[in-house]
Amino acid sequence: MAPPRATSRQQPSRLSDDAEIAAYKRAVARAAAELLEDGMRVGLGTGSTVAHLLPAIAERGLTGLCCVATSPATERAARALELPIGELDEVGELDVAIDGADQIDPRGWLVKGGGGAHTREKIVAVSARRFVVIASAEKAVERLAAPVPLELVRFGVQRTLHSLAPAQLRGVPRTPDGGVIADYLGPIDDPAELATRLSAATGVVEHGLFAPEMVSVILIAGALGVEHRAGAKPEG
Ligand code: 5RP
Repeated sequence: MAPPRATSRQQPSRLSDDAEIAAYKRAVARAAAELLEDGMRVGLGTGSTVAHLLPAIAERGLTGLCCVATSPATERAARALELPIGELDEVGELDVAIDGADQIDPRGWLVKGGGGAHTREKIVAVSARRFVVIASAEKAVERLAAPVPLELVRFGVQRTLHSLAPAQLRGVPRTPDGGVIADYLGPIDDPAELATRLSAATGVVEHGLFAPEMVSVILIAGALGVEHRAGAKPEG
């Protein structure tokens, strides 16, 4: 049987949801860009929310910024806007890193890696004195749910997947660091327990669970404006 066609009532409401989400992403990106000051060393995340952040930073016309990108896509976009880009190992500790998220639970646990960049994103997040998460309201969930992105070593990947079952390869090109992207598809009853189990699994480079202790502040844009939620990482 042919799949049901979108009716004229469904189509506009889906379009308006997409437009609303894009507007929230723009709003939260602008709010985050306001946190930056001249001379800061800034980690730039990856994804469609960060794609709104980059022009918002460029528009501020700050001087002496030095940015570190978490993906080739972010690096290209940042360079096109003439944001200065450096290598993390040359720049050293960052003042702030700003990045999106796929899911945010009420305790501040995140799932990241929808774009497969979570390994670099986590390295940049923990290299920053302040890690700011930016998201549109639909990313706030009551409970985290699969998929949890994984970066795996290519060698023996089927054995690694077997040890993590249920998990499957995503079928995307290798990461810039030579890993392959997969998703853990099982339940997330306890994010801390799952994060420990995934970190301990041989062949896992990094998983997409980010603990509340990594996060300084979460900005969430919705119909009521931009909400600031304190994270569990001490400020300073
Ligand atoms: C990429 C990520 C992104 O931050 C996450 O997928 C959110 O993306 P978007 O801003 O497009 O919704 O973790 O690896």
